[in-house]
Amino acid sequence: MLTLTASARFLRTIKPQRFLASLPHVVEHDGTRAERSLILLKPDAVERRLVGRILSRFEDRGLAIVALRQRMCDRALAEAHYHEHRDKHFFGRACAFLCAGPLVSACLEGRGAVAAARGLVGPTDPKDAPPGTIRGDLATHWRRNLVHASASAEDAEREIGLWFESTDLCPPPSALDPWLYEVPGARIGFDDDDGDEGIS
Ligand code: CDP
Ligand code: MG
Repeated sequence: MLTLTASARFLRTIKPQRFLASLPHVVEHDGTRAERSLILLKPDAVERRLVGRILSRFEDRGLAIVALRQRMCDRALAEAHYHEHRDKHFFGRACAFLCAGPLVSACLEGRGAVAAARGLVGPTDPKDAPPGTIRGDLATHWRRNLVHASASAEDAEREIGLWFESTDLCPPPSALDPWLYEVPGARIGFDDDDGDEGIS
């Protein structure tokens, strides 16, 4: 007969929706906590059928998809998303582009997810984006630049709240965690290694 561990008994006492919303991020033995980033595959990415190829770049980097949705974006959502640019001359055109066709929103999670995703995406204008970045490899124009990625952890939190309900956020797949992170209990672990200050 199966016996429930204490944590499994605890999980049975809370509602599934609350459980999903409150799921802990990956935490490594040194306390490093996984971040989340909000990614948009803009309408040019969908129309050019690049969704799978672009998503795979983030997954290949070790980032996990915790929420994913294809949808239309209305003007109010576009304006809320680009709120920081409301006084810029390109605000209207940037919002119109988000509404030009279906787009895909994704919430990614992983170690340093915000910087990792921005690095993969590359600079705003594809002509400045180095080969190897998504924009550098696949885009040509600064507005038709395929992808949005949150600029900071604070932006990510706000943007994830705009594009997803908390119940859309699923537990990230964890089977590979011991090979992506120094989580406690990994076969090759350094959690008893005193004085590990990180790479710097
Ligand atoms: O997307 P990213 O964070 O690299 O750039 P941004 O400076 O936050 O601008 C947001 C988006 O506005 C860009 O990705 C462009 O699609 C768009 N934009 C535009 O339509 N015209 C400009 N002159 C500058 C940006
Ligand atoms: Mg930006």
